[in-house]
Amino acid sequence: MRAARCEQYGGPENVVVRDIPSPGVTPGHVLVDVAAAAVNYPDLLLIANRYQVSAAPPFTPGSEFAGRVAAVGEGVTGLSPGDPVYGSVFTGAMAEQVLAPARAVAPVPPGLSLTEAAAFRVTYLTAYHALVTAGDLRPGQWVVVLGAAGGVGTATVDVAARLGARVIAAASSPERLKVCAALGAEAGIDYAREDLKQRIREIAGDGADLVVDPVGDRWAEPALRAIRWGGRFVSVGYAGGDIPRIPLNIVLLKNITVRGLELRTWTERLPQETARARQALTELVAGGMRPAVSEVHDLADVAAALRRVADRLPTGKVVIRVKP
Ligand SMILES: NC(=O)c1ccc[n+]([C@@H]2O[C@H](COP(=O)([O-])OP(=O)(O)OC[C@H]3O[C@@H](n4cnc5c(N)ncnc54)[C@H](OP(=O)(O)O)[C@@H]3O)[C@@H](O)[C@H]2O)c1
Repeated sequence: MRAARCEQYGGPENVVVRDIPSPGVTPGHVLVDVAAAAVNYPDLLLIANRYQVSAAPPFTPGSEFAGRVAAVGEGVTGLSPGDPVYGSVFTGAMAEQVLAPARAVAPVPPGLSLTEAAAFRVTYLTAYHALVTAGDLRPGQWVVVLGAAGGVGTATVDVAARLGARVIAAASSPERLKVCAALGAEAGIDYAREDLKQRIREIAGDGADLVVDPVGDRWAEPALRAIRWGGRFVSVGYAGGDIPRIPLNIVLLKNITVRGLELRTWTERLPQETARARQALTELVAGGMRPAVSEVHDLADVAAALRRVADRLPTGKVVIRVKP
């Protein structure tokens, strides 16, 4: 089968397409013919060996996919060859076949194409957990989404608006903020040019109820300082580069709750909350919610697709078309 391969750590250009053997099917697992795989920022960190957990080269990047079941392993129930499914793995999705544990694979929610389903799981589960499970978001509350035009960002704006929150999107250009407005953001802050803390306070009055932060770096602290007394801050990632060090007195003086969220371990350790999140997201899809897929690239162009994400160019989600 054809597969993207990281043969040595480095930038996107180190990812090549090779012919490698199919993984085959094993007990408790599902072998999937991959139609599409989405790019997530952690893919770039893994190929550069800058992620929290390492994958040893050579490996196939890609953590989320959609396609059709090719074979089910011993002990797997509820899925049959040919069923449309989507799922996630640590690595291995950017290939014609992927082997995934049965618990990490689910039927495609009705209404989603395979391309959309490939881009749904990681960002939307992260968004829902950040907003609801960790963020305790209520309708009418002000939520600030940093990196709002990116993958996690667009999903977070989309879910928050659909849950009745008032969304302030922060992104690095007016064009990127337009994408957020189309997803339901009530206000936008161009944090490359405007004062983030001051603008949040101008828009939200008392301050934000919740900040969802997939960017970190120099944006985390001004956003935290613009939270109201008793508000919440959920740390999701550090796409900006630096992991911020926050003066704890800001947290104390305003009685702010700071939460961390790592989807990989949440899915394993919080199965009930994850089932609730999946159910809520399936209902939102039934109501018309669709992932903001902005670019689709062929597997042969995987390095160029990864480069675009590294260069901060796309909005929403970038998808690799593997086998339509
Ligand atoms: N906690 C979890 O379980 C979890 C799950 C998924 C992803 N993540 C993390 O969340 C972050 C975002 O992931 P994603 O897939 O949404 O990535 P993405 O689509 O590339 O979006 C990241 C956004 O961050 C902004 N950004 C600011 N400074 C940047 C820089 N120096 N380089 C690149 N982007 C920069 C960009 O928007 P502007 O140009 O508009 O600023 C970009 O749209 C990553 O750190 C990822 O590791 C965490």
